[in-house]
Amino acid sequence: MDRPYAISEGVDSWNTIIFLYNSALKEVRTKVEILNDEFQQVHQYNPIEYIKSRIKTPESIVKKLKRSGYESTIDNMVDHVNDIAGIRIVCSFTSDIYKLAEMIGRQNDLTVLSIKDYIKHPKESGYKSYHMLVTVPIFLTDRVIDTKVEIQIRTMAMDFWASLEHKIYYKFEGNAPEYISRDLRECSGIVSMLDAKMLQLNEAIVQAKEAQEEREQEEQAGEL
Ligand code: GTP
Ligand code: MG
Repeated sequence: MDRPYAISEGVDSWNTIIFLYNSALKEVRTKVEILNDEFQQVHQYNPIEYIKSRIKTPESIVKKLKRSGYESTIDNMVDHVNDIAGIRIVCSFTSDIYKLAEMIGRQNDLTVLSIKDYIKHPKESGYKSYHMLVTVPIFLTDRVIDTKVEIQIRTMAMDFWASLEHKIYYKFEGNAPEYISRDLRECSGIVSMLDAKMLQLNEAIVQAKEAQEEREQEEQAGEL
């Protein structure tokens, strides 16, 4: 990918940068909502339960740069902080995650820079989620600027685990006692079991419903 010089070349102020990231967030959110609506039209089914989005706070950006050993400059933030604009898509089932990721990947005007599949390869903490780093072109009056957005896709159960784990992590500032980390990993396993069970249940419901409809059609045909 091109290094996003474009941003730092003409964009000098913090406000302009934040405006760009906000615009990128709006673009990606609308795209994802349209995909969801289309899916509803075609399959009478919504893969998305809810979407959350946020812009990283200035404090958080500076902290991250410091942690990685970079000076707090606009160039560094554009180059090294990939999650200034973040969108989280929460789905019903694990299968929805991969469907959505594929749909997002097929969008011509989005460029996928990287993918991290923490569902197939969970983090040491037990964290599970599917991450995509994309850029979206933002059309300004005199130029087009490719802007990064981090997309996290997960099930409701994964989101529940990640939210609680995040709170605990912050309470201990990353130094949680081993037995707590171990229990959290165990909970992550339970979350996966729950997701697998719910997926199975959903498939069983769909099949049972189809069989019922077939029976009803046969009965109707018999009556004619
Ligand atoms: P960050 O510096 O945390 O952004 O990590 P990174 O740039 O290496 O990216 P990574 O894919 O590891 O994580 C990006 C984001 O995923 C984080 O900002 C969190 O929102 C989420 N995340 C990653 N690991 C964990 C975890 O162990 N627990 C929770 N709750 N969230 C996590
Ligand atoms: Mg982050």
